[in-house]
Amino acid sequence: MRVLVIGSGAREHALCVALSSDPAVTALACAPGNAGTRGIAEPAGVDAADPAAVAALATSWRADLVVVGPEVPLVAGAADAVRDAGIACFGPSEQAAQIEGSKSFAKHVMAAAGVPTARSWPVGGAAELETALDEAGAPYVVKDDGLAAGKGVVVTDDRDAAVAHGHRVLDAGGAVLVEEYLDGPEVSLFAVTDGTTVLPLLPAQDAKRRDDGDAGPNTGGMGAYAPLPWAPPGLVDEVLATVLQPTVDEMRRRGEPFAGLLYAGLALTARGIRVVEFNARFGDPETQVVLPLLETPLAGLLHAAATGTLADHPPLRWRDGAAVTVVVAAPGYPERPRTGDPVTGADAEGVLHAGTTVDAEGTVRSAGGRVLAVTAVGEDLAAARQRAYERVAGVRLADAHWRTDIALAAVEGRITPG
Ligand code: AMP
Ligand code: GLY
Repeated sequence: MRVLVIGSGAREHALCVALSSDPAVTALACAPGNAGTRGIAEPAGVDAADPAAVAALATSWRADLVVVGPEVPLVAGAADAVRDAGIACFGPSEQAAQIEGSKSFAKHVMAAAGVPTARSWPVGGAAELETALDEAGAPYVVKDDGLAAGKGVVVTDDRDAAVAHGHRVLDAGGAVLVEEYLDGPEVSLFAVTDGTTVLPLLPAQDAKRRDDGDAGPNTGGMGAYAPLPWAPPGLVDEVLATVLQPTVDEMRRRGEPFAGLLYAGLALTARGIRVVEFNARFGDPETQVVLPLLETPLAGLLHAAATGTLADHPPLRWRDGAAVTVVVAAPGYPERPRTGDPVTGADAEGVLHAGTTVDAEGTVRSAGGRVLAVTAVGEDLAAARQRAYERVAGVRLADAHWRTDIALAAVEGRITPG
């Protein structure tokens, strides 16, 4: 099977690592890719946000399967364009990707499917914003309704800051959603689905805030670990029964079947499981810890989802142990990351590339806010964590920053689900 991965982050590097170890994969390409994916996948140039360009590359490269990593191409219709070209594609249609692309669409689907989520107040204009905030109460949760690369949400006790964020989104022409605050630890649970059959993967947790102790601004994700030693028994079965399967069934009922990766972002609150958000793709950085634990060959699994044959797929197999990934970020991330700095030590084992390029002299240079996702597997979470930080010590990027507490609260038994 010739497999083409679309995207250029550490999630795509992790996908390439897993796909390259599947004996069914005879050729692998990653477009546009990064300095890390070049080591295991043929590089190819593409404007990932242009569905016609993605489909043209898939055709000229003679792909048997295209795996679309990021949300932007999916929301733009890349999966439809690839399928229209007669090539199997792992990724939802433009319509179905609205479950991530529009938070209000996701709310409608959840309401129809009876899926538990935060109460929400759609805000059409400035006049409604303050009424909605006062009804919801503090802590205030103010969201950009559309795609915002993980930076569209503000959670704050400061009413002025909540109002200011709402105005920023409205002034930029966006729509705002005010939400009830959800308390309790967060879980990311991914499911592979062909639109009917749903296979959940291992639960993971990511660290969204920039600084240790969950301080600082929200980011795309500063690290992750899997599985969750503190998760209540039966968590995955419960989420499958109350969230994932009803959502997939409702999308099919609407005539917009969701086939691909359904990512449920959950809060385990005192009142039960609540959906914080859905994404239409593998999470980043959670993928970097989930895939190294998967023993089932990945290409066969994704191909089955892409071709509607997941019901015939054998149960997933997982290796024992745990995985931890630590994101090494550029100075200035997330606000104004500095790029173009040399990166060394990045070809070591477990070092996934998030934002890197190779210059004309062959030097690896930073090319994004999140530069590396340094990953390790261990017999338990403590061992994986220790190994991941040892590997972080081996990479060099001037003025880089990273969190030193990824998976620490879980290792120390300090997380209790609501
Ligand atoms: P989202 O883009 O919807 O995933 O939100 C980004 C992050 O903001 C989430 O991972 C949570 O940490 C936080 N968040 C979003 N919605 C809520 C909520 N209703 N209550 C508390 N925290 C939230
Ligand atoms: N880790 C959060 C995301 O992928 O959206």
